[in-house]
Amino acid sequence: MRILFVSSEAHPLIKTGGLADVSGSLPAALRKLGVDIRLLLPAYPIVLEKLHNKQHIVQLHGLPEVGSVNLLSGNMPDSGLEVMVIESARLYSRPGGPYNDSHGSDWDDNVLRFGILSKVAAILSSRNSPLHDWIPDIVHCNDWQSGLTPAFLHYSDTAHAKSIISIHNLAFQGNFPSEWVSRLGLPGHSYQMHGLEYYGQMSFLKAGIYYANSITTVSPTYAREIQTEQYGFGMQGLLATRSHEIHGILNGIEIQEWNPATDPYLPSTYSIERLADKSKVKQSLQAQLGLETISHKPLLGVVSRLTHQKGLDLLLSIAEPLLARQCQIALLGAGDPHMEQGFRHLAQQYPGQISATIGYKEALSHQIMAGADMFIMPSRFEPCGLNQMYGLCYGTPPVVTHTGGLADSVQDTNKLSLKNKTATGFVLEHADSQSLLDTIDRALAYYQDTKSWQQIQRNGMQQDVSWARSAQAYFELYQSLIRY
Ligand code: ADP
Ligand code: GLC
Repeated sequence: MRILFVSSEAHPLIKTGGLADVSGSLPAALRKLGVDIRLLLPAYPIVLEKLHNKQHIVQLHGLPEVGSVNLLSGNMPDSGLEVMVIESARLYSRPGGPYNDSHGSDWDDNVLRFGILSKVAAILSSRNSPLHDWIPDIVHCNDWQSGLTPAFLHYSDTAHAKSIISIHNLAFQGNFPSEWVSRLGLPGHSYQMHGLEYYGQMSFLKAGIYYANSITTVSPTYAREIQTEQYGFGMQGLLATRSHEIHGILNGIEIQEWNPATDPYLPSTYSIERLADKSKVKQSLQAQLGLETISHKPLLGVVSRLTHQKGLDLLLSIAEPLLARQCQIALLGAGDPHMEQGFRHLAQQYPGQISATIGYKEALSHQIMAGADMFIMPSRFEPCGLNQMYGLCYGTPPVVTHTGGLADSVQDTNKLSLKNKTATGFVLEHADSQSLLDTIDRALAYYQDTKSWQQIQRNGMQQDVSWARSAQAYFELYQSLIRY
């Protein structure tokens, strides 16, 4: 079985969020199941720098607006996964992030940058591909950036692979002016309600949802939620018409990398058998961040994009009552300038109790995950969420909203779940400040009772959050698509 997995980011080559974690680890897990899988990415400068065994394979010609691009192959640094990258000086060779410049503004040619990613994926998935000896059975697209691939395939006149679109976040849709339909070489008649048109624009994500053979999303609860007005971002109607082809498959995590017993970023390691050693990490984190090194003060950890989705404005609004409860906060995040400023200001006001690191820092993200007593994630919506799963593995019980993948991966603590050893964290029904404070209060009550707290930590650390089950689910989905 041959699969082309298309993404705009993949860890450890390039990462802005959970999509990268998934694009790095899911293909590797599928390869272990015997799938012949290759990853396709744009060749951002950092990707070219990090890719192992780089080789030029072929030049592709006749692409809309840009003419030709180079296709290179290589291997992922850790897993050795086969990667193909699209090299284009005009599109991808520039400093800054994959989607925005260093000031955080979207690149104004993203429509072309990801139009070409989608187009190249379609070329490689058709009988006309220049890679005659490797034509995939399925092209697996991820999020809006490769959403046009199923549309290109639908309008191609050669035999081609089946397609899957995985929705990691419906809030990002890739909507652009309609002139791009023809500029990207799609037929004019595709621009209609039953096609690419979405409220007067062309939509990459809608194209994916409309034309792909199958749709997946990253948790079973999110699969249901996106078919409702509250979570559908306007696409709920279309999604509901494709209800039978939507599969909610919960993400797994890379358990080799996220393991407190071996994590190279930690000053000292610990495990379920050596849980007491977690306090050493807490102490050194407190010292590193300039927090008072008082072991009994509950330390609340946050690692997140700072956007409306993540609900961290709620944490901002209850910071003072939390301080009154002797809590400390260690936050790492970047995003919305107001939220960044809000947390910076709070940290200045309460030095020694609140620390806010604004930026993207791989090592610190692991250290907070390990050193904190609980992990705070009050998302307004969350397709899957990976941080709460890292929290489970690190004995850092997550405090999460009952939504999307958070609802599917964290079991609330109460008398019964504690007794039957299923309690793994604390769940708030609604993302509002009062519920967050009430839920943290519930967690703090258990925190005072060491025996119960350690039970909750152990329950979490024993969860199977690896890719094993979910990679199998993707494998079976691939098989069923190839059969029909
Ligand atoms: P999302 O993809 O919506 O941002 P996820 O929970 O799925 O949320 O994944 C976020 C990933 O990005 C995690 O691996 C998390 O550790 C990482 N991350 C988020 N913000 C930062 C940051 N400021 N520094 C380092 N890692 C971060
Ligand atoms: C998106 C979602 C997040 C999910 C990640 C990986 O970024 O916001 O919930 O975990 O994709 O699927």
